[in-house]
Amino acid sequence: MESLFSTFKTTHYFLMVALLVFLIFTIGKFAFKKSEKAPFGAMEDKTTLLVLILSHIQLLIGLFLLFVGPMSNNFSNMGAAMKDSYLRMMTVEHPLTMIIGVALITIARVKMKKKPDADTKYKTVIVFYSIALVLFLSRIPWSHLNG
Ligand code: HEM
Ligand code: HEM
Repeated sequence: MESLFSTFKTTHYFLMVALLVFLIFTIGKFAFKKSEKAPFGAMEDKTTLLVLILSHIQLLIGLFLLFVGPMSNNFSNMGAAMKDSYLRMMTVEHPLTMIIGVALITIARVKMKKKPDADTKYKTVIVFYSIALVLFLSRIPWSHLNG
């Protein structure tokens, strides 16, 4: 079980890198395309699908780490976990913030599909992805990576 958890943790770490890269890349690219009044084509649609799938896999792995992995031991003693800033971060702040971020990425795609033109499609994705990016950056355990 231990090696399974560490494999998932490593996967969760690499997916973080991939997600941050794709979010920043997509926000920048879409902002440029919006200003150029470029059409919103199949490639742009695929990009948001890729970000969505990566974030959903991250969600699934995160929930596994939280409820099945070693972190789940903290739920039997929440009082102590709340007093420890790292444990509070990993059992409460990180999961809650990240779930909201993944929800925003999902909403971005659902709303984007319903928008009538390229301009509003780009705008929807840029706005939702930017908020998700800020939420992700705010609750990544930067000082404990792969620890
Ligand atoms: C805890 C696990 C997960 C939850 C709660 C979840 C939830 C959702 C929700 C709410 C939607 C939006 C449905 C809509 O379009 O109205 C969705 C879509 C989707 N999810 Fe997940 N998901 C999870 C895991 C996964 C995983 C592991 C994958 C891929 C490996 C995945 C791939 C997708 C895809 C491909 C779509 C449809 C995208 C589209 O065509 O717009 N999801 N999911
Ligand atoms: C969406 C729901 C998510 C949940 C429930 C979740 C849950 C967790 C948990 C429980 C841990 C601690 C694992 C342990 O030490 O045993 C963890 C670590 C981590 N999470 Fe998440 N997470 C989620 C999403 C994300 C997202 C979206 C990102 C980044 C974009 C992310 C980045 C990280 C990183 C970098 C670590 C540290 C990994 C390491 O130590 O190498 N998580 N997560």
